[in-house]
Amino acid sequence: TSNSMWGGRFAEGPSAVMREINASLPFDQRMWRQDVAGSRAHVAMLGKQGIVQPADAEAIAEGLTQVAAGYERDGVPDDLSLEDIHMLTEARLADAIGPVAGRLHTARSRNDQVATDFRLWVRDAIDQVLDALTAFQAALLVRAEEHAGAVMPGFTHLQSAQPVTLGHHLMAYHEMIARDVSRFTDARARMNLCPLGSAALAGTGFPIDRHATAEALGFDGPTRNSLDSVSDRDFALDYLAAAAQCSLHLSRLAEEFVLWASQPFGFVALSDQWSTGSSIMPQKRNPDAAELVRGHSGRITGCLVSLMMTMKGLPLAYSKDMQDDKPPVFEAHDLLGLSIAAMTGMVESATFRTDRMRALAESGYATATDLADWLVREAGVPFREAHHITGRAVARAEALGVTLDAVPLGDLQAMDARIDARVFDVLSVDASVASRTSFGGTAPANVRAAIAVARGEA
Ligand code: ARG
Repeated sequence: TSNSMWGGRFAEGPSAVMREINASLPFDQRMWRQDVAGSRAHVAMLGKQGIVQPADAEAIAEGLTQVAAGYERDGVPDDLSLEDIHMLTEARLADAIGPVAGRLHTARSRNDQVATDFRLWVRDAIDQVLDALTAFQAALLVRAEEHAGAVMPGFTHLQSAQPVTLGHHLMAYHEMIARDVSRFTDARARMNLCPLGSAALAGTGFPIDRHATAEALGFDGPTRNSLDSVSDRDFALDYLAAAAQCSLHLSRLAEEFVLWASQPFGFVALSDQWSTGSSIMPQKRNPDAAELVRGHSGRITGCLVSLMMTMKGLPLAYSKDMQDDKPPVFEAHDLLGLSIAAMTGMVESATFRTDRMRALAESGYATATDLADWLVREAGVPFREAHHITGRAVARAEALGVTLDAVPLGDLQAMDARIDARVFDVLSVDASVASRTSFGGTAPANVRAAIAVARGEA
């Protein structure tokens, strides 16, 4: 038999494959709360405007409460013949209150309905992500404060470069997440206009009040062009773009945890809660969660590309291709939620091996720049020449098999007579980090100041 919602002109029902390829219920049932909320706002407005009788509007509102209670209690049934959550809910409503249910869809199309539901869903998703990112930032701040003065090697090209502090390193991630928070917040503000009332594509002749439904659903106002309203998925792309970029940050920290947890680095021991063993090698503690966060970032970015490809060639207005908008957004959201929670847990519970970090910072001639800077500052040597003299000092230290601050003063003076004993004040890793007091630098005092600013205390 033909479809009970739109089958008037059809003699036959769809083939089984048609039914399957057409149905979005298996995934869009995730939006049932948003669908009910949208219908509630719509029918209240229809009643107020006298487009349906107020008594009918009330019966529909009560019926929607029953339908929602049923979904809450029993879950959303998997009835593919009803295609999607919108038609399922309307069918349930008819089961609950009879033919008056048929008045709900007045002055509305599934095109503006789905655009509204999906915006509401993405808006909620952003709020969840923002909460999770706030918790992650709090964890970073706690560990950064604890290790504001802990010296570690800073790298460029993954080669020991200059000493930094672990607190400074963790605060670098705090900055990245702050930008993510700002991107999600921007996306939320930009998307917060309501497409409901755009109807199929052209608007409607019924005297609807789009401002009222927009306000009832917590939007800042109605969208301005009906064609754009039903075919715009920029809000979902904005969400995915922010999610992809956020996942890249999580992936970089995850990669550092993988490296740091390796035996050659030995900078971090992940807690038991965030490690796994091997089925054959008894000694193993593998950083699987970090590896999966690194892997998930690829999938999340794939979700962004997937929706971009869906949208790129669509003529106005709605086409069914757009039904494919939801799976990548749902998938990215689930993966991002897990990734943020896992990185928060790892940061909170990791044991940082600061003794090992310090030993490596001291062994890599990481204070060579400090020696060159000293020659510039204290002996008036041009930087290029100071760089050259310091290079010879590093070669000498390497030949002697000692750190830079253990090269005998006589050896240094043989390279340049302007060097005196005061140079040793700047050659330790602690002196090096303490000297980096330029704004945004790694000096422990700066790191503590940055933490205070991040906490809103300064
Ligand atoms: N299930 C559809 C979707 O997700 C709802 C909109 C259907 N509109 C239509 N004209 N067939 O996009």
